[in-house]
Amino acid sequence: MSRRADDNPVDRHRAGMLMRAAIEVAEATRPHPNPRVGAVVVDPEGRVTARRAHERPGEPHAEVLALAEAGPTARGGTLVVTLEPCDHHGRTPPCTEAILAAGVERVVVGALDPDPRVAGAGVARLRAAGVDVVVGVDDVDAEELDPAYFHQRRTGRPLVTSKLALTLDGQAAAADGTSRWITGPEARRDVHRLRAAHDAVVVGAGTLREDDPRLDVRLETFTGPQPLAVVVAGDRPLPSEARLWARDEVLVVGVDKHDEVPDHVEQVLVPGRDRPEPQAVVDVLADRGVLGILLEGGPTLAGAFLRAGVVDRVVVYLAPSLGMGTGIPGIAGAFETLGDRMEGRFRRIVRVGDDVRIELEPAR
Ligand SMILES: NC(=O)c1ccc[n+]([C@@H]2O[C@H](COP(=O)([O-])OP(=O)(O)OC[C@H]3O[C@@H](n4cnc5c(N)ncnc54)[C@H](OP(=O)(O)O)[C@@H]3O)[C@@H](O)[C@H]2O)c1
Repeated sequence: MSRRADDNPVDRHRAGMLMRAAIEVAEATRPHPNPRVGAVVVDPEGRVTARRAHERPGEPHAEVLALAEAGPTARGGTLVVTLEPCDHHGRTPPCTEAILAAGVERVVVGALDPDPRVAGAGVARLRAAGVDVVVGVDDVDAEELDPAYFHQRRTGRPLVTSKLALTLDGQAAAADGTSRWITGPEARRDVHRLRAAHDAVVVGAGTLREDDPRLDVRLETFTGPQPLAVVVAGDRPLPSEARLWARDEVLVVGVDKHDEVPDHVEQVLVPGRDRPEPQAVVDVLADRGVLGILLEGGPTLAGAFLRAGVVDRVVVYLAPSLGMGTGIPGIAGAFETLGDRMEGRFRRIVRVGDDVRIELEPAR
């Protein structure tokens, strides 16, 4: 089939679909400290000939894998990639070289890379070589594939996300402590996707005692590695038996050693009177190279971290149900007067199954 020079098989609408496909393949990975990246190759006739993600640090980047898979079909075609290709030698050669060698005509980039080693240099190199480069696609926020990476590169700090599952009137659990399951199966699956994007999943001692959570990513497609499981302990005893203690990577952060916890579980002591200071917990995890911290409760820990000003995002799953009275509110503490409230802005509101997911960015 012949093609006129001005034909473009990847129009704006199609670019959005392809970018979503590139995001989806990368959602199965967690290559931190490297970013999650997905890439799709489209041949000159508009057929998708490869779709790959960057799997692990030190391994080839998504665009290199996709171009290798596409082979000669990439020549004259389009590469759709979630993140700006690199133009420097790291553990692998620059992706720009592979793109130029493959002879693609057009590159659609989801987001520029804030890493100072890239920061526009990848796009500049491709344009200088005559490649048509488009940055950004309508209605697709490619940064949402890996918000922790972008946040950490821009601020030098890990992204701290507090997740709550609540009844419509803000209850996290009934007065007797029962909370399973407030939200439906789709929202619970969405929480696994959230876990997959964070390096550490954190609960307070109360949630460990009450719920015996596993805190792992249970998605068939997820290629790992599993996030670090973290318990923030106070001065009361922790259970000597818990499902978490069977995890390969589990950490207890406390102010005193907990002798009741099995010996193989690593414990880190941080400053705090009776309970660790939230900032100290974040610092311990940041020092380990964690880019994203997901707080999964409970209400006491969420309240403490929010009041300490260390939470960047609150993700609330609201169920179509009412607690019908006072149970355990989603955030513990006293709301004495209107001035006590923490203001913010809604980042995103989406329906997830029968529930609603609301993302709030607290004002600092
Ligand atoms: N709906 C949801 O999204 C959700 C999520 C998680 C849990 N839950 C429910 O919440 C209930 C448990 O609530 P919770 O508030 O007791 O659990 P929590 O917030 O997980 O644990 C609170 C405990 O964490 C320890 N801690 C360590 N550092 C702290 C700090 N800086 N500030 C405050 N506490 C610190 C303390 O342990 P010590 O007691 O040892 O001092 C404290 O009592 C359960 O019913 C559970 O099912 C609901």
